Amino acid sequence: MISDKIEKALNKQIAVEANAAFTYLSMASWADNHGIEGAAAFFYTHAAEEHAHMMKIVHFVNEVGGKAVIPSVPQPAETYENITEICKKAYKHEQQVSKSIHAIVELAQQENDHVVDEFLRWFVAEQKEEEVLFMRVMDKIKIIGEGGQSLYYIDKELNAMNAAAVAAAAAKPTAN
Ligand code: FEO
Repeated sequence: MISDKIEKALNKQIAVEANAAFTYLSMASWADNHGIEGAAAFFYTHAAEEHAHMMKIVHFVNEVGGKAVIPSVPQPAETYENITEICKKAYKHEQQVSKSIHAIVELAQQENDHVVDEFLRWFVAEQKEEEVLFMRVMDKIKIIGEGGQSLYYIDKELNAMNAAAVAAAAAKPTAN
C-alpha cells in the first residue's frame, strides 16, 4: 500500500524519533544527576513523547503493509555544559525533526499518497507545538539571563512547563 520510497522515508523517521528520544533521555539524566529537577522532569517527559512518536510510525508502517525497521541509536552526548546548552540543542533538534517530517509530507504529496499525507498531519501539528514550546523556553532563558543565579529560575520555568505539557498530553490523543 505504500511505495518503497515512502517506506524508506518513514523508516528513516523512526530512527530520527528514536534518536530524539535517547537524546532527551540523556539530557534528562544529566539534569537529574546535577539536581536540576525541573529540567530533568521536562526532558524525561519529552523523551517519552518522542518514544511515542516513534511507536506511532512503527505501527503505521506495519499497518499499511510496509515493514518497520527498528534502528540502532547513536550514543547521545553524556555531558553538557549547562541547561542553556541543552535547551539550545533541543530547539535545534526539533527544527531538524520538523524539516524531516515536512520532506516526507512533500514526498507523499508528490506520490498522491493521501493516506500517508493524512497520517503525517498529526506530526506536522505536533512539530509546530514542539517548536513553539522550545522557542518559549529560549525566550524565558533570554529574559531570566544565563548567569549562575538564573539556573534556579530556569529550572522552575521548565518544571512549570513540564506540568503544563503533562496535563495537555493527558487531554489529547497521542500514539496508537
Ligand atoms: Fe518527535 Fe520532537 O520530534
